[in-house]
Amino acid sequence: MTTTDTRDGARGTAGPVRPGDLALALHTPEARRDPYPFYARMRRESPVHRSTQGIWYLTRYADVETALGDLRLSNDRDRMTRAYGALGGDMKAFSRFTDRLGRVMTNTDPPDHARLRKLANRAFTARRVEALRDGIQRIVDRLVDEAVAAGPTMDLIEAVASPLPMSVVCELFGIPHEDLPQVKTWFRRFGRLTEDIEESEAAIGQYEEYLTGLISRRRAEPGDDLISALVTVQARDDRLTDSELLSTCFVLITAGDETTTHLVGNSTLALLRHPDQLARLREDPALIRTAVDELTRYDTPTQAIVRVVAEDVEIGGQTLREGELVYLFLAAANRDPERFEDPDRLDLTRPGNRHLGFGNGPHFCLGGPLARLQAEVAIGTLVRRLPHLRLADGAALDWRPNPLQRRLSALPLCY
Ligand code: HEM
Repeated sequence: MTTTDTRDGARGTAGPVRPGDLALALHTPEARRDPYPFYARMRRESPVHRSTQGIWYLTRYADVETALGDLRLSNDRDRMTRAYGALGGDMKAFSRFTDRLGRVMTNTDPPDHARLRKLANRAFTARRVEALRDGIQRIVDRLVDEAVAAGPTMDLIEAVASPLPMSVVCELFGIPHEDLPQVKTWFRRFGRLTEDIEESEAAIGQYEEYLTGLISRRRAEPGDDLISALVTVQARDDRLTDSELLSTCFVLITAGDETTTHLVGNSTLALLRHPDQLARLREDPALIRTAVDELTRYDTPTQAIVRVVAEDVEIGGQTLREGELVYLFLAAANRDPERFEDPDRLDLTRPGNRHLGFGNGPHFCLGGPLARLQAEVAIGTLVRRLPHLRLADGAALDWRPNPLQRRLSALPLCY
């Protein structure tokens, strides 16, 4: 999210989970370290679970996959705000953020969604993504060079996984290299939305102003970057307003930032914890394509996404009522033994790996190919260039607290 990112981070928390609720286990330090035994229990004991907060938790592959394609489960931002508000969540920051962002593909339902997504679909082509491969390789090589020169250990998140997606997105959007530090500062400030709304909103305003300037420069003088492509497509298909174009750029630039960072982080950790699989990848680097899919299935950064019930719907014998929130646990679906053989095993050659790590249905991740490409290049390069890579001695891993996402604060490595 992803866009999902921005939205989830922006949402208010909806009050405490009460004791006795199976969902409570997800908020414990144990689940933060390793949520997968919790998901297995939930799939077994209460696969369509209503928490004491009144939020539905779906954990079976079949249910999550069906729910992703069911238009009675909505992404609409107003419904979402009302549903969180009804649970007593503090929606001030979220509402202000979504008001400012306006309607974008991530927070709308069909048919509006299709109109908003069409433009980006037409500009964000597979060819455009593949054309970034050499540039991504150069960025990764530079980041690894710098990390290696800096010392005998590195924090992979800070040194490689975090700067990578932002540099790539700047290349894709034709954002001048010298503006990168400023863009990064704005991004850090958006992330503080729930702590400091004023600071975060000011950053959003400055960033919008910056993007508006960039869009008008590309309109006057198109290049071969994504903004120029969006502007050209918009000119042909004038159903998208200027403010919708701005929001689309905003979403595309923010959506793939932290998710990609943590795909690289989680995947590297998984490989280091499975030396047999790491050795296979070293022996056969061509495995990287299926490897990235399996690593995304195994420990996906977007653990769950949120929907709100727009019309009563029956799932797994339970009736989900209009206005209720639903958490679709992609990460639990990805470990469902009904769908994947031996699901807790990391198998870089797993056949037929139709995981849900990038979602499914109308909101299927638009940036999936770009995220995959970055992960392929980053992980492939680490494996090739650093043959002695291992976790730093005594490294204690700190997973961030939001159970809808799976993100390491740092990943200290020796090489
Ligand atoms: C590892 C990295 C990524 C992961 C795990 C990821 C995951 C997801 C998921 C699960 C969704 C579905 C959300 C939903 O149904 O509500 C999604 C949607 C989306 N993603 Fe990603 N994403 C990643 C990277 C990216 C990148 C690099 C971009 C763009 C450059 C991107 C752009 C989007 C957009 C625009 C949507 C919304 C599509 C829509 O609403 O129609 N994502 N992503």
